[in-house]
Amino acid sequence: MEDVERLEAFQAKIDREEKIEPKDWMPAEYRKHLIRQISQHAHSEVIGMQPEGNWITRAPSLRAKVVLLAKIQDEAGHGLYLYCAAETLGISREELLEQLHSGKAKYSSIFNYPTLNWADMGAVGWLVDGAAIVNQVSLQRTSFGPYSRGMVRICKEESFHQRQGYEIMATMAKGTPEQKRMAQEALDRIWWPALGMFGPHDKDSPNTGNAMKWKIKRETNDELRQKFIDKTVQQAEVIGLTVPDPDMKWNEDKGQYDHGEIDWEEFMNVVRGKGPCNAQRLEHHKKAHDEGRWVRDAATAYAKKQQSKKQVA
Ligand code: 3HC
Repeated sequence: MEDVERLEAFQAKIDREEKIEPKDWMPAEYRKHLIRQISQHAHSEVIGMQPEGNWITRAPSLRAKVVLLAKIQDEAGHGLYLYCAAETLGISREELLEQLHSGKAKYSSIFNYPTLNWADMGAVGWLVDGAAIVNQVSLQRTSFGPYSRGMVRICKEESFHQRQGYEIMATMAKGTPEQKRMAQEALDRIWWPALGMFGPHDKDSPNTGNAMKWKIKRETNDELRQKFIDKTVQQAEVIGLTVPDPDMKWNEDKGQYDHGEIDWEEFMNVVRGKGPCNAQRLEHHKKAHDEGRWVRDAATAYAKKQQSKKQVA
């Protein structure tokens, strides 16, 4: 078939809500768009383990430590699902990691902020995983099969992540005045960078047009951000905390909150590598990757040995 006919057949399949599978013909731009987004999603899951990993040894109780460990282990698994989904598009794990280490590939800017105390563990779980849930529930309906199926699996675990964070915040908000102050300050620190997780405004997004046409995204950045705000402001009120936005006000006519503007200059600075922890996060990942080489080599050698045994048998 001519490319024009194949392109029309491809778009018609998308419009019929049929999933595109790795073996299907797809436009090079669709493939490139997916590799970009899925790889950045995977990098975000893995780099996102660092801010919380800092607090495993300092968790306030054995239960808190076990819950945080379980969450961080989940994130590693999410990263693996997503790297595997990206690999079905014809890119290798080595290339994906080279793009991360060289700075060519992005990961979510939220992870370039520090986690200063235990209340930040609550705010990260509640707000960062809360924002991720809003985005990932929508991505369950993405047009690329492996990405969509990975999202279904990830969303099941993400709700536990958000719940454990909200429990930490609720406990501290109802604790001593000092604990309540820590919870409020954590909300103040993480609220605005969490809103940035949904990306720039739709009008400033170079990728949303194609993403919506190809049903990679099912809702736009601003639609998802609004959904997150509308449900999270009420959660803050329930536990006696205040979202750090003086312009936050319920709009009865629109049935949603009006809110203030994100500091896009700060956002772009962090995306461009000038955030508080960008260099530290990448250095840590490179060091861990190098130190883990012997594990990968051993696993590869073992797999080869098993394979050769099978061939002999
Ligand atoms: N941090 C870093 N870069 C960002 C960003 C952010 N928060 N938001 C947008 N960008 C980048 C985009 O990657 C794009 O740059 P590129 O073209 O070089 O890749 C540019 O800014 C313009 O943004 P667009 O909105 O045009 O880009 P997208 O259409 O890709 O939308 C997105 C951005 C909404 C993040 C989309 O890529 C997406 O939905 N990704 C999958 C979900 C994801 O990555 N979630 C965040 C982290 S996962 C997580 O938090 C896990 C949890 O368990 C902790």
